Amino acid sequence: MQPKLIIHGGAGSSLKGKGGAEIVRRSLYAVIEQTYAKLQNGANAVDAVIYGCQLLEDDPRFNAGTGSVLQSDGQIRMSAALMNGNLQRFSGVINVSRIKNPIQIAAYLQESDDRVLSDHGALELLRELGVPSFDPLTEIRLQEWIQERAGNFSHEMAGVVAEKELIEDNAGRGTIGVVALDQNGQIAAGTSTGGKGFERIGRVSDSAMPAGNYATPKAGVSCTGIGEDIINECLAARIVVRVDDGMALPQAFEKSIAEAQKNQRELGAIGLDATGAIAWGKTSEVLLAAYHTGELIGDTLEWQDANLIGCVS
Ligand code: GLY
Repeated sequence: MQPKLIIHGGAGSSLKGKGGAEIVRRSLYAVIEQTYAKLQNGANAVDAVIYGCQLLEDDPRFNAGTGSVLQSDGQIRMSAALMNGNLQRFSGVINVSRIKNPIQIAAYLQESDDRVLSDHGALELLRELGVPSFDPLTEIRLQEWIQERAGNFSHEMAGVVAEKELIEDNAGRGTIGVVALDQNGQIAAGTSTGGKGFERIGRVSDSAMPAGNYATPKAGVSCTGIGEDIINECLAARIVVRVDDGMALPQAFEKSIAEAQKNQRELGAIGLDATGAIAWGKTSEVLLAAYHTGELIGDTLEWQDANLIGCVS
């Protein structure tokens, strides 16, 4: 079977001009090309998703791993989830600190009896596994927090990409995600985030919930946007369950995103199904996504038309 791949680096306010889109496009294409090569060389969907998420976490431009946003108390707490669609098995880590790749802990927990760990438990596991301590803080995110503190945290959240000159205003919703279909027709989805930015201590993101990341043997979805909105729509599971029940992927996206739009949510989602269809949708201004069909690489960076969804196969 021809492998398929879609990734995202967040959703939110528009990128300033074509130059902004070009910079983000380069980052996304580097990840999609390297990850797709793995799938072509026989990697399974789970391994490809872990690999792609790590690459996106390591890119300081995106709000996950290195370059994560700071919470209201100036600390970074990250969340990540991995779902093996074939086994329909979810694992995740919530509000973990001082680690380079939160997706690796989600991957480790796939084989554990306890599959979702939060702050203290996650930290204890990192110690047990001897994972080296890593500070994901970048200068630009620190400056962003200092500026927000001076303004008494008037913004609801941090910038979607860690380059102020690339966004129209400071209201973006970054997160990263990868959904893959491998040569054996198996699907996996992974999502990783630094959260909204400037949030209350203990706030839990959608990214390590089935609302933000979900997969079955038939479809997989990863979400981005305001976590509370994604949770209210239970968006990833909603789209995937519709496909499980027989709806085609584009229609499942269309119906679910239209419902979210009606409810005035601010979010985006990417996904694919076992037939090889790839789809994306958003209610926000932009969705930073790129896909690989085997024949072509495309992206959604300058997609701002009236349609709420797009698809390709
Ligand atoms: N979607 C990421 C967050 O709100 O935490």
